[in-house]
Amino acid sequence: MPAFQTSPGMRDILPADTGRWRRLNAVFADVVGAAGYGQIITPLIEDVGVFTRIGEATDVVTKELYAFEDRGGRHVSLRPELTASVCRAFAQHRPAALPWKVWYSGPNFRQEKAQRGRYRQFDQVGVEVLGVDDAHLDVEVIALAAEFYRRLGLTQVNLVVNSLGEPEDRAAYVAALETYFADADLTEQSRSTLAKNPLRVLDSKRTEDAEAIAGAPKISDFYSTEAAAHFDMVQAGLVRLGIDFVVEPKLVRGLDYYRRTIFEFQGGTLDSAQNALGGGGRYDGLVEALGGPATPGIGFALGVDRTLLACEDEGVFAEESAPLDAFVVDVVGGQEAAAVTAELRNAGLSADRGYDNRSMKAQMKLANRSDARFAVIIGEDELAADSVVVRPMARDAGDQQTISRSDLISHLKETLDLS
Ligand code: HAM
Repeated sequence: MPAFQTSPGMRDILPADTGRWRRLNAVFADVVGAAGYGQIITPLIEDVGVFTRIGEATDVVTKELYAFEDRGGRHVSLRPELTASVCRAFAQHRPAALPWKVWYSGPNFRQEKAQRGRYRQFDQVGVEVLGVDDAHLDVEVIALAAEFYRRLGLTQVNLVVNSLGEPEDRAAYVAALETYFADADLTEQSRSTLAKNPLRVLDSKRTEDAEAIAGAPKISDFYSTEAAAHFDMVQAGLVRLGIDFVVEPKLVRGLDYYRRTIFEFQGGTLDSAQNALGGGGRYDGLVEALGGPATPGIGFALGVDRTLLACEDEGVFAEESAPLDAFVVDVVGGQEAAAVTAELRNAGLSADRGYDNRSMKAQMKLANRSDARFAVIIGEDELAADSVVVRPMARDAGDQQTISRSDLISHLKETLDLS
């Protein structure tokens, strides 16, 4: 066992898997770029106050922040998510053209109990739209996430939506829940959740809580006329776009900043505690809480790690290996390989080479393992004649040819159909 290993909940993503990460990000950038969203990159570390605005009753803030004092005595934290950072950026830069539509991708940090699909460092891709309070925007945002999953090839993704109403509706509902749950038969854990955040009691997956939760008041009975109309429009918009969804009155989401529309995409193949592939909603008061002007906002974040697990489970979006164009074998000291490899790479071909002046047999073994389309071989005869041997690596791809060094690039490009 080596002296150092990754910390709990932290993982190395090795070259065999990083290609899928890159492609997933590319698909996401494609989907949101085509909808007019611009990329935003915010720091991994912010003033801890940015994140405490997410809500003091949120586990993400109270238990899971990687917060510390930096050498300048500033209280900072690694980000647990990006919505608060984007709102901080909006309040700081005050973009003039609204709506401000941005997308992001990157790692986040939460000190959670690690298990499959739940890590302490995890990646998200997401969007935030600030400055427009239109139910059609809620529909657009949800539709973008649905399109992303479709493009990955995932089919077992269920969309659940709910509305938390206006802040006053939500407050009245929370009060009603408090009263109701005060006398209900709840587990110890849910009693303690009740004291901190009554809404989250509805999230309990413990069977002993199920009966009490089933009989709890419903948020829909507390909607103001405006909140009900907004939610109706969102649902009608989703129907119009042919997006399947289920209204789940018990959906509350884990963060405190939400108002009105909330939604979650749940993976059909994942364990129920970690089945949220992504989620989002409206957070109309967050920019204001961060010192900016009153600004409506909506967005979502999708978990990259979990989404890739779901892809594995469904057998879609597999790793695509891109074979090398050429592997250069030099048995005359290595200088020629250095020059030829650089020449190939500069000409836009992918190329690797053998090192340490190993035997022809050893280098050909490497060429085979590298999955290259061609081996470019330089021995004594080729060096003397200023030529190279080009050997197709696939079994039925024809015979090897000796060609002049100066024709190598054009020969390979022609054969690879790249010219
Ligand atoms: P969230 O529900 O906390 O929302 O996270 C969104 C997604 O990130 C989850 O559905 C999950 O896939 C992934 N995720 C969260 N925690 C972990 C973890 N410990 N390990 C692996 N994956 C995880 C937000 O973060 C909000 N900022 C979403 C949002 C954007 N709302 C409005 N705009």
